Amino acid sequence: MCGIVGYAGRRRAAPLIIDGLRRLEYRGYDSFGVATLGSHVEVYKRCGRIPASIPDTRSMKGTLGIGHTRWATHGAPSDVNAHPHTDCTGRIAVVHNGIIENYASLRKKLERRGHSFRSETDTEVIAHLIEENYAGDLVKAVQESVKSLDGSYALLAIAEGDRRIVAARNASPLVLGLGDGETLAASDMTPLLEYTERVVFPEDGDIISITPQGAEILNQGKPVERPVELVNWCVDDVKKGGFEHYMLKEIFEQPRVFYETARAADPAPLVDLLRVTPALTIVACGTSYHAGLIARYLLEECAGIPVRVDHASEFRYSIPPVRNPVLAVTQSGETADTLWAVRAARSRNCPTVALTNVVGSSVTRLADAAIYTRAGPEVGVAATKSFIAQLAVFMALADRLGGGSLAGSIATAHLSIGDLLQQDVEEAVAVCGRARSIFFVGRGPFYPVALEGALKMKEISYIHAEGYAAGELKHGPFALLTPETPVVAICLPGPTYRVMISNIKEIKARGAQVIGIGLAGDGELADVVDVFLTIPGEDPWVHILTASVLLQLLAYHTARSLKTDIDRPRNLAKSVTVE
Ligand code: AGP
Repeated sequence: MCGIVGYAGRRRAAPLIIDGLRRLEYRGYDSFGVATLGSHVEVYKRCGRIPASIPDTRSMKGTLGIGHTRWATHGAPSDVNAHPHTDCTGRIAVVHNGIIENYASLRKKLERRGHSFRSETDTEVIAHLIEENYAGDLVKAVQESVKSLDGSYALLAIAEGDRRIVAARNASPLVLGLGDGETLAASDMTPLLEYTERVVFPEDGDIISITPQGAEILNQGKPVERPVELVNWCVDDVKKGGFEHYMLKEIFEQPRVFYETARAADPAPLVDLLRVTPALTIVACGTSYHAGLIARYLLEECAGIPVRVDHASEFRYSIPPVRNPVLAVTQSGETADTLWAVRAARSRNCPTVALTNVVGSSVTRLADAAIYTRAGPEVGVAATKSFIAQLAVFMALADRLGGGSLAGSIATAHLSIGDLLQQDVEEAVAVCGRARSIFFVGRGPFYPVALEGALKMKEISYIHAEGYAAGELKHGPFALLTPETPVVAICLPGPTYRVMISNIKEIKARGAQVIGIGLAGDGELADVVDVFLTIPGEDPWVHILTASVLLQLLAYHTARSLKTDIDRPRNLAKSVTVE
C-alpha cells in the first residue's frame, strides 16, 4: 500500500507535497518522489525514506504537483522504480496506489507500439497509456486510458499543456481537500488537515479534474456531485506531541479514546440486526481479528449472542453457510482481505456492517452500514488505540444487548487504563530483549489478549513471539521451552485462575522463565513467577483492556531497547491494500 499526494494552488507544490508524503510514510516508505508542473514537468525521486531536507527539490517552482511514497509490490525498491513515472517524452507524470492486474499484457502491447519502459512497475503502463491518448486534454486522456486498466488504482496525473491534476479512483482510497484557493488530493486525510477541514470522498469510477479553484468530478463521462464533509481530526492529531514515537503517543491516548468511543460510537446498526437475528459473524485481520475474538467472549457471555470469528483472508475463499449479519472490523477501512470478505458476505445476501476508524473509507461504501470508532488518526503501524477503541464499541454493544450489565465497566475503564500507563516494565523488558522466542499465554478472553500481545511484540521488536491458549502449550510447544524462551502468562482472578497457576508451574519445571501478569497483591502468583507485572482493579472485563495495554507497553519498550524502527517496522505497512 502506498501514499499519494497532489496539490494545486498558489504555493510551491514540491515542499508541501513532500511534507504530506511524510505524513503518509506509515503507508509505505521504501522510496518516494515528487513531480511538479511549472514551465515543464520536473521529477525528483529516490529510493529510501524521505530525508529531513531535500535541496535538489528547491529548484522545482511549479505550483501544481503530485507525489508518492512507496511500499513495493512490483519491482524492488530503487530510484527507477520509485514514483512518479513518466511517459516516453517526460511531459506526463503519474503516481498510483493500487495494483494493475493486467499490466504485463498492457506493457507488451505498448512496447510493440514503440514505447520504451524504464521501470519494473505496473504503474508505468498508465503513463504510456495517457501518452497515447493525450492531445492537450488530460481529463479525456485519463478517462480513455483507465478503460484499459484491470485492478485497483487511486492515481494522479499531470501533463505539460494542461494546468490541472487529473485523478482517477477505483478500489483504492482517495480523498480531496478543498482549501481557500488551493485544492489537494491524498490517499487519506492526514496530509490535508493543516490546509482544510472540507473533504470529499470520490467513488469508484470517478475522474476528477483538480485546480486551485476546486474539483470537478465525472463518472461515466457525466458530471457528478459528491458531498463535502467536515473532518473532525486536527493537525495535532498527526504530530508526535513530544513523544519519542507515534506508537507511544497513541498508547497514552487510550484513556481518552476509550472514554470518547464508548460514549460516542453508535452500535445501533448492529443492535437492530442482532435483535432480529441473534447470531454474528466477524471478519477481520491482524489486531482487528483479535478484537473480534474478544468480542466473541463479550457478546456470548454478556448477551448470549453466538459469535463466529473468521480471518477475513480465509472467509473469502471458504464462505461458511452463514446467513446472519457479518461485521467487518477494520481500523483503516482499506484492508483488501477484509473488503473482499465483505463482498463475499454480500454475495450471500448477508447483512453487512463495518466497524472502522476512518470516515469515508472503502469499507463504509461497501457495507450496508458503518459504526465508527473515535480513535483519531493512528499513525504508528502497530495498532494500539484503534484496538482499544474497537473493544470500547464491543463493550457498548454487549452492554446494549445484555441489558446494561457492562455499564460499570464502561464507566471506569478509562481510569484503570490511565493508572496502568505508568507501569514499570523494565525488568520484563530485560528478559524479553534477550529472548530467542517468546510465548504469550492466557485462557478465556485472555487467550486473544495473549495473541495480540504476541503480535505487538513480533511486529515491532522482530523477536519471534507466539500467542497460545494456555492449556494448549503442553500439547507440543512444551518441546520448545528453554531458558531462552520466556513465557508471558496472564493469570487473573476467575474460573481459570487455579489452572493457570498450575500451567505456570509446569512451564517453570521445564526451565523457561515466566513473566506473570496479575492483580497487585497476588502473593501466590508473585511467588511462582520470575517477573511480576501487575494490573489494577477488580473488574474482569476491564482487565482485558489493561492487560492489553500492558502488553503494548512491554512490546514498545522491548523494541525501543533493541532500537528497531517502532513506527515503521520493516516489511510492514499500516494498511495492507493487497491480498
Ligand atoms: C497490527 O498491529 C497490524 N498493524 C495489522 O495486523 C493490522 O491490525 C491489520 O493489517 C488489519 O488492519 P485494519 O484493522 O486496518 O484492517
